[in-house]
Amino acid sequence: MLFDSGVGGLSVYDALRVALPDAPVIYAADFAGIPYGTKSEAEIAARVAGLLGRMSERFDPRLICIACNTASTIALGTVREVLEVPIVGTVPAIKPAALASKSGVIGLLGTQATIRQQYVDDLEREFAVGKTLHRHAAPGLVDEAERKLRGQAVNRAVLAEALQGLSEDSKGIWIDHVVLGCTHFPLLAEELMDVAVSELGWSPDTRFVDGAIGIARRIADRLDGQEFAKTGDNHFVITGPIERAAGLDAALSARGFAPALPF
Ligand code: DGL
Repeated sequence: MLFDSGVGGLSVYDALRVALPDAPVIYAADFAGIPYGTKSEAEIAARVAGLLGRMSERFDPRLICIACNTASTIALGTVREVLEVPIVGTVPAIKPAALASKSGVIGLLGTQATIRQQYVDDLEREFAVGKTLHRHAAPGLVDEAERKLRGQAVNRAVLAEALQGLSEDSKGIWIDHVVLGCTHFPLLAEELMDVAVSELGWSPDTRFVDGAIGIARRIADRLDGQEFAKTGDNHFVITGPIERAAGLDAALSARGFAPALPF
């Protein structure tokens, strides 16, 4: 089972499909709770632990992936303590970005809640030694990804603002790797690259980095040796009124999901 506040976890799902093509997937989107990025740590931890508890009783999954950086950086420890099912989290891909960076300056785009986490301080201290990490909150990108998957036009001005915010923080030094530290953001990777290069004059050598492939591999490793028989469509369940899933059918069916159902 994959869990996120919204459609962002589909960026992890896309990588998982390649790593484990036959595993049946239940995707749970907490549309009644989105956005997580503006909530407090206590609210997010309580909400995620409560929902995942109820969901794991209902669906009895073999594994849960919290496909959300905000929920993972805040609630991974708590959820692991209270649930017996294996849990894989999603945290900003600072390590690969720092390893690949030549300019020594990397950027992190995430939600307001993610970028202030101790978890991120620890990743920076451990993996970005001798590098500079600039963090910038880009909540507008969450809405844009939600819109894009509903077939609506992406507002490029919102993308430009997020990238500009990051480059202002870097005071003109080239950020060669930008970590997309929210699972919604890789859904906009092409548009972000295009805006960065064609509107903001960033180098075409800039790289946007996310952790989806690594997470998919970790899930496959944790499930190694288990047999899967694909049983038809995957399931997409949402909290809140079903109207919130309006417009998602095409994005879901392209990924092998039946239309959304209420949780
Ligand atoms: N997709 C989520 C993440 O990875 C957060 C979006 C939200 O603010 O709800 O952080």
